[in-house]
Amino acid sequence: MKKKAIIANWKLNSNIKSISHFFTNFKLNAPVNLNKNIIVIIPPAVYLERVYKYIHDKNIFLGAQNMDLNVEGSFTGDISVAMLKNVGVKYVILGHSERRLLHNENDLVISKKICLAKKFNLIPIICIGENKEEKARNKTQEIIIKQLSYIFEYLGKKVFRNTIIAYEPIWAIGTGMSADPNYVQLIHEFIKNYIQKYDSLASHTLMVQYGGSVNALNAKSFLNKPDIDGLLIGNASLDVKEFLKIINMCNTK
Ligand code: 13P
Repeated sequence: MKKKAIIANWKLNSNIKSISHFFTNFKLNAPVNLNKNIIVIIPPAVYLERVYKYIHDKNIFLGAQNMDLNVEGSFTGDISVAMLKNVGVKYVILGHSERRLLHNENDLVISKKICLAKKFNLIPIICIGENKEEKARNKTQEIIIKQLSYIFEYLGKKVFRNTIIAYEPIWAIGTGMSADPNYVQLIHEFIKNYIQKYDSLASHTLMVQYGGSVNALNAKSFLNKPDIDGLLIGNASLDVKEFLKIINMCNTK
């Protein structure tokens, strides 16, 4: 059966003490068959190396929350793709709605970053999704096409191979109101069909994740759907017990 990916996005949370607590508990309680699915931990950049030391020999992968458009030079405060690669990062989140909204990242910036990530062999986790008002106006599919078609036009039709798309409806992020799994299944099917039209080979290596108020209580209903290839988890991934429950659910599916 195709592997699913369980991805922890810690956002601007955690510290040295909480990371040590997380991995002490993780080590004691993690299932042995961690490689049955793909587990990725995405801490704040300042803790990447620390987290790498805990996970590198355990079939868990390291991810980054963002990266700069430049590879090196006079760009005070930025972190480059080469630096991420250098400390063991394999995945990078690009186009998260929090960066689109709070840092004005548009489709052009996101496309340039995807190009760079691919050049350095990082797997991009590309976030897309509609806001509350767009959902109310039934514009979800239109928004998704707009976001995906820009990337297609910029990078060519093979761009979604070996890539993760995270469908994260903005209204579901951090609100405790996750989307209905049946609704998410339909949207994921729509995303896959849309990409399939341009690249029939993408489906072998493309994964489509769901993110938005996922927790140990609702995870299973998403994981049971055929086109939901995994979960991108914010808040609940900070709690090691909750995160392990979700991994176990995915492993015993
Ligand atoms: P929450 O799980 O906290 O809603 O966050 C989802 C998210 O934005 C993951 O990238």
